[in-house]
Amino acid sequence: MNTPPANDRLLRALLRQPVDRTPVWIMRQAGRYLPEYRATRARAGSFLALCTTPELACEVTLQPLQRFPLDAAILFSDILTIPYAMGVGLSFETGEGPKIERPIRSAADVAALPVPDPHTELRFVIDAVSLIRRELGGRVPLLGFAGSPWTVATYLVEGGSSRDFVRIKHLLYGAPATLHALLDKLAQATLLYLNAQIAAGAQALMLFDTWGGVLTPAAYREFSLAYMQRIVAGLTRERAGARVPVILFTKGGGAWLERMAGTGADALGVDWTTDLAAARRQTGGRVALQGNLDPAVLRAPPAVIRDEVGRVLASYGPGPGHVFNLGHGVTPDVDPEHVAALVAAVQELSPACHR
Ligand code: CP3
Repeated sequence: MNTPPANDRLLRALLRQPVDRTPVWIMRQAGRYLPEYRATRARAGSFLALCTTPELACEVTLQPLQRFPLDAAILFSDILTIPYAMGVGLSFETGEGPKIERPIRSAADVAALPVPDPHTELRFVIDAVSLIRRELGGRVPLLGFAGSPWTVATYLVEGGSSRDFVRIKHLLYGAPATLHALLDKLAQATLLYLNAQIAAGAQALMLFDTWGGVLTPAAYREFSLAYMQRIVAGLTRERAGARVPVILFTKGGGAWLERMAGTGADALGVDWTTDLAAARRQTGGRVALQGNLDPAVLRAPPAVIRDEVGRVLASYGPGPGHVFNLGHGVTPDVDPEHVAALVAAVQELSPACHR
């Protein structure tokens, strides 16, 4: 038997089971806003060295838990590990974000892309998962993750971050079969990768679809949601007698929550542009909801943070099925004391939602 973690609030909330208070974790909780993260990264030499060295990935995964009473750990890694393992020449230049040396733009480029074996080319991630589980000693659950095929494809095709997604939209409207072939390969690779994370000990999973919101509703269904649905359908949903919940997060996807709930995911991430009460009505209790404090609130004084946490809790309302989080990742300029204020406010204010 896989004994449940001592603190199983996150897993219970994702399955809409009763909890004593709302669980809380924060997207990018291990990151540059923490001085201890910056120190470990300096020691590692680079962000990629952190990701590819299990001991260092484990160390930074645990850092936010040593500071704050969070209800989950999230694997320290990146959604671009799959492109890295595909051998497209990934690098991260400080202050510039990811760069891909050999972008994927033609049918021939797609055909030449390998589907990485998670146990060899992505072994460093799988080893990090086992090591983190061991070091956590069952205190809180460990979340694994991957990018959605569409979101990872935007980096592969654009060659890095993008504002306007001109190149991938050129493919989408001009050569949709080529884009589908790429998404198909990414979906295969992601499914193998996530199932390997589950086998190594990940207790819940999240798919990050950061750029699904730049699509039209029809294109979202065809080029993003359909591939996430395929992944959800192929995942190992139960391991050692425990359900492995899966969270889908499309940033800017507030209008499509009902369709997202139809994929069979257990929970949906919601950004701050959607009201949780409306999201709850739209999805009719079929899924749990995760979110959705505006990350910019973390720049405000602690008293404002507390009020805004209260507003998010009130917007979800009473009852189970809510996981507190930001609507997107914490930014590097945030004072860690403000994150402490957020976590304390959830602990103080949320028990009233569960009586
Ligand atoms: O949440 C966590 O604490 C786990 C770690 C995590 C990282 N990236 C670490 C990271 C997770 C879950 C991600 C996901 C990720 N990576 C996404 C989806 C979520 C989102 O934020 O929208 C995306 C789009 C990426 C791709 C990526 N990685 C970009 C565009 C960048 C550069 C921009 C930036 O924030 O610097 C990264 C780098 C990255 N990934 C950093 C961290 C901590 C910063 C690297 C550094 O230390 O310099």
